[in-house]
Amino acid sequence: MPICDPDGAVLDRATLERWLREDDPERLAALYAYADRVRAQEVGDAVHLRGLIELSNICRCRCSYCGIGVELRDLSRYRLDEAQVLWSAARAVRCGYGSVVLQAGEDSGLEVGWVAALIERLRRETGLAISLSLGQRSHHELSRWRAAGADRYLARFETSDPTLYAALHPHAPEVERRIALLYQLRALGYQVGSGMLVGLPGQSYRSLTNDLLLLHRLGLQMVGLGPFLPHPETPLGRGEGPAPLAEGEQVPASAELTCKAVALTRLLLPRAHIPSTTALATFGAEARASGLGRGANVVMPNVGPPALRALYAIYPAKGQVDESLERFDQRLGRLLAKLGRYPGVGPGHAS
Ligand code: 5AD
Repeated sequence: MPICDPDGAVLDRATLERWLREDDPERLAALYAYADRVRAQEVGDAVHLRGLIELSNICRCRCSYCGIGVELRDLSRYRLDEAQVLWSAARAVRCGYGSVVLQAGEDSGLEVGWVAALIERLRRETGLAISLSLGQRSHHELSRWRAAGADRYLARFETSDPTLYAALHPHAPEVERRIALLYQLRALGYQVGSGMLVGLPGQSYRSLTNDLLLLHRLGLQMVGLGPFLPHPETPLGRGEGPAPLAEGEQVPASAELTCKAVALTRLLLPRAHIPSTTALATFGAEARASGLGRGANVVMPNVGPPALRALYAIYPAKGQVDESLERFDQRLGRLLAKLGRYPGVGPGHAS
């Protein structure tokens, strides 16, 4: 059966772009209601909670949007030790979460054997499902970590536009390499997640439409997407790099555009796990709720050491910074109840 929009139109390039440009509130309400129905039907009302552990903010890359790139010399750098990771994972278990995500900058000091031993220990001692988000690593490393028990791997392609990708990633300008990584991960037996930024300067509606089509072609199990949030100490934050397009062509980095992309992603990949991201939640608690009501079915609470959280400054005002996990978790519980949803139990694997 072809994948359709609420009007029964096939979700081809023209239809997707039209929806991204739609600004009639009634039309959008129909899109969101339909995405929410598809979400309920295909993946149910459970919201899977993944405990995010920011393993290291050391990074060798120079992505021009990111606040932990190698050129931000004033940022203090940290790498968690094993005890800190186990402490963080124990908090995830205590909150009833079924999985954790180990995320880091591209830190070559995260040594293959150390990470493998950590994965084995986490599996043995907590039973949590494990997602990795450690960047572009060698086939040997990815394969070793899979064998050690990692279930999933997240690597956003950020934008599928080759020219824009090259402008934003001067250290690794080929988007094809990023996409090849996703195929490699699948061949290794990982559940694969990817996604993009919404509202990058120079990102057109056409280009975001291509991103959505790529998500579908890749047949991803997980999709994370969020608004681009300028960080003042990065090239994009300083206004260097690609210039915004003319009005009407440039995708805005808004909560609304992000929600449209989430809803369309749900229609394109009905069974995918889609988070309502922390980046979206920087627009406020309502934005988090609206993501969950428009197709998303995952939240990733930060379970890492609170004292280090501010150093994982990929963008400013990263949500939840001043809030304890316990308070966040309680608030999230109330939000889910209000939305008629409930926390998922178990690993929350993709099916
Ligand atoms: N604004 C929003 N998201 C960002 N990311 C990195 N920098 C920013 C920013 N300035 C996202 C990237 C990356 C993920 C971990 O965080 O998409 O893949």
